[in-house]
This record gives sequence, structure tokens and C-alpha cells, in this order.
Amino acid sequence: FQVPMAENEPVQGYAPGSEEKEELQAAIAELKSNPIDAPMVIGGKEVRTGNTVSMHPPHDHAYNLGSFHMGDKSHVEAAINAALTAKKEWANTPWQDRAAIFLKAAELLAGPFRARMNAATMLCQSKNAFQAEIDASCELIDFFRYNVQYMTEVYAEQPESAPGIWNRLEYRPLEGFIFAITPFNFTSIAANLCAAPAMMGNVVVWKPSDTQIYSAQVIMDLFKAAGLPDGVINMVYCDGPAAGDVVFNHPDFAGLHFTGSTAVFKHLWKTIGTNIDKYKTYPRIVGETGGKDFIIAHKSANAKEVATGISRGAFEFQGQKCSAASRAYLPSNIANEIIEQVKTDVNSFKMGNPEDFSNFINAVIDERSFDKIAGFIDYAKSSDDAEIIAGGNYDKSKGYFIEPTVIVTKNVKFKTMCEEIFGPVMTIYIYDADKFEETLEILDQTSEYALTGAIFSTCRYAIGTATKMLENCAGNFYINDKPTGAVVGQQPFGGARGSGTNDKAGAAMNLLRWVSARTIKETF
Ligand code: ALA
Repeated sequence: FQVPMAENEPVQGYAPGSEEKEELQAAIAELKSNPIDAPMVIGGKEVRTGNTVSMHPPHDHAYNLGSFHMGDKSHVEAAINAALTAKKEWANTPWQDRAAIFLKAAELLAGPFRARMNAATMLCQSKNAFQAEIDASCELIDFFRYNVQYMTEVYAEQPESAPGIWNRLEYRPLEGFIFAITPFNFTSIAANLCAAPAMMGNVVVWKPSDTQIYSAQVIMDLFKAAGLPDGVINMVYCDGPAAGDVVFNHPDFAGLHFTGSTAVFKHLWKTIGTNIDKYKTYPRIVGETGGKDFIIAHKSANAKEVATGISRGAFEFQGQKCSAASRAYLPSNIANEIIEQVKTDVNSFKMGNPEDFSNFINAVIDERSFDKIAGFIDYAKSSDDAEIIAGGNYDKSKGYFIEPTVIVTKNVKFKTMCEEIFGPVMTIYIYDADKFEETLEILDQTSEYALTGAIFSTCRYAIGTATKMLENCAGNFYINDKPTGAVVGQQPFGGARGSGTNDKAGAAMNLLRWVSARTIKETF
């Protein structure tokens, strides 16, 4: 079971005057001079309905990126049929051939597709060049390479045999099709939610987020260029409930691979439960959902490191990472020093269009997000329990811009300490430096979600106590580092409680969800 050993793709820096920066700027210019007419892709065929929806960068309402063609239930049905047709051959394709397609995709993305994938991600998601590079290029390349390696680990797991008996496990794809519902915020996650089941021999119906369709087009081009057969991954655009109505009533529905909100995931889970008698097999349900990610500092922490953890952990990509820190518990002895440094950091961030590479903060994804985040900021402004110490302004006249905002509260259960905001808002609570364990207890009790979290301390006992007491509060727990930026192959990613099923992305345990094992015993 030898495959090329996976290695992390090096991150390009996009320094002024660098070749990669020039290539990326050229790719942005090229995309902007060709507004797209984005089709659905069903059975390898481009499908245009004429029911078009225009797309604009979140940072520039005036600019038109093109439009996509909205489908309806009939397209979802067609996508399921195309998937099931493709499955006959794909499920029986040797794993080496499947692996080769995704290794090829990794090399194409590391080379000729890189600039276009990053440029599309910058334009439709309002990511700066560095954030686009670590998402759309490095993380996705890593997903392809590492999952190929993990796939061989899954297949290599075999039972014992005995004289006269040969036992073996055959890892079959699931019987039916997989439905992938993917988020706006990571191009890599969107692609991987389709690629991981497909790699294991499954066929996929993919419904991307409307606000990510622009970069989803490049993903489909990449799969095609890598040699993925038609119909293995089918991309449809359709109103969510209508798509769900077709998929979740279909006897061949075999699995859901989801990243999105907790409320939607719970709703889908209930729907699947209600329809359980309709399916040939129990569907696999894999989801990554909400988060309310935390940073806690101990009185022994290095104040500057905590401040950097907050500034970067909370505000990179405008706080729209599921892993982004959005609440911090700071000890009274160093809280002021940390807060002053966070204020300095935040005030130094330049905000604007990501096409100007000096802008660190860009726009939030759409009007719905903008209004929701602004609502939280307004709530803090009007509350006696909170003070806004940095940012607090927002403006949607040209694009959906919200200043990185820092709130300090005296109420450990303040609304913005507990509820998911999914935007550039950090709330800080200052605790009595001698009440570390009590604060850990409160943190545990107020953690409805459990995705990521971080402890900063130079005291080994404090680190040990926090690691133990917060064991159910974060699927990814960081010691003396920000809680974002998990690297595939190094920190498998996913959370529990309200944050998901914790079938870590970029790990053998995720791939195992997409196979159904047959035990074969042969006697001689
Ligand atoms: N995997 C991404 C991170 O860790 C979401 O930031």
C-alpha cells in the first residue's frame, strides 16, 4: 500500500515584487475582465437554466463578477441520477486510479491552478492574498495529498487469519450517493467535503453555498483537469429546502457531508430521522457546525503572546472561520497590558478591498451576516454590562465592512460571550487572577459549542488543569497558540457538542465514514 508520502504545501508569501504576487494580480485582472456565466455541472455537462442570479464581491457592490444559473428540484433529481449512473464504474475503479486523480489535482493546484483558485477566493469571499493562499491552495492541496495517504491506511487495516482460514476486510463505498452541503468560508472545505467521499469510491451531489459558487467553478474545472470521470461529483444550485426535499426522500441517499450552521444541521438530522424507513441503508451523517471559540489566559501567561493570539485568532478573515476566537478570559494581573496591546494591534489593521494587498481586514460575506454582526455590536453599545474598546463602526454603502471590534464585559454570561456571531467581534471578560479554576468551570458550563479553544500559560500545572477541566470544550485545543489555522496532517480538525460530529477533517477517521466494510472469511 505504498503511495507518495504526503508533505504540507509550502505557503507563498506574496511579498511586494514577488513573482507569485504578480501572477496573482494577473489572475485577478483576468477574472475581472471575464464575468462568468456559471452553470451547474450534472453528469459532466454544463446546465444553464436562464434563471440567473448575479454575483458581486462582498467588498464591492458595484462590481459584477457574473452570474450563476439557479436550478430547481428537477436538477437535483438529474444530479442524483447522473451520480448513480457514474457509480457503476467509479465504485469498481481500483483505488490506485482514484488516488492518482487526487494526487494529480494536488499537483495542478500547486502549479497552474493556484493563482486562479486564490484569485477567485479573494474576489468572492473577500479574503486577503495570504488567507486565500492558506485556504484555497495549501489546505486543499494538503487535503488531497494526506487523504490519499490516509486512504491506504484505511485499506491496510486487515484482520488476523489462521491456518486454513483467510479473513479479509473489503472497504466498499456506501450503497447510494452522498449529499455535500458546503460553506462559503473555505474553498478547501467545500472541495474536501466532496473529494473525501469520492476518493473512497462514492458519488456525490454537491450544493455549494451561493456565495462561494464563483470559486466552486474553479474547483469543478480542477477535478475535470485531474481526470475525475463525469458524474462522480455533480454540482447543483438550488434553494435548500427544495434540494433537501428531493435528496432526503430518495431511497439511495447514503450520507450527508455538511459544514454550516448548527440549526440547519439539526433540522436535516431530524428530517433524515423522520424518513429513515425510506432508505436502503442507514445514512452516515457527518457535520461540522457552529462554534464559540475561546482563549483563556492564566496569570503566568506572556501578555504579548496572548494579545497576538487574540488579534490574529479573532480577526483574520474577519472572524468568519469556524475556529475564530470570539471570547477571551483574561486574569486581572495582566488583563490591562493584554488589552492595550490588542488595541494597538487592532488599530494598526488596515481595512478595505483585498485586491489592495496591504489591507488585512476585508468585508464580511453578505448583507445577512453584516446585519447580524452589526446587531450584536449595537446590543453591546446599548448595554450597561459592556464597553466597546476598539472598533464598533460598520458601513455597507460600498461593501460589507465591519471594523474589528473588541468588547469588554463584566458579565461572564453576556450575550456576546455566549452566542455565535461569526464576524470580527471579540468579547473579553476579566477574572480575578486567583480564581483560575472557578473560571475554567464557568467556561465549561457556558460552552454549548466545542470546536476550538486555547490556554496561554507558562505554568505547567495551570496548563494541565485547563487541559483536563476543558476536555469536552474543544475538539481542537491549543496551548500557547491562537485557536485557528489547523494544518492538515498535523492537527486533524473538528469539534463536538453543538459544533459537530467530530469526524475530523483530514484524517483516516473521516474517510472511514465513507466506506462500508465487508468481512470475507474463506476456508481451505
Ligand atoms: N481548519 C480551519 C482552522 O483551523 C477552520 O482555522
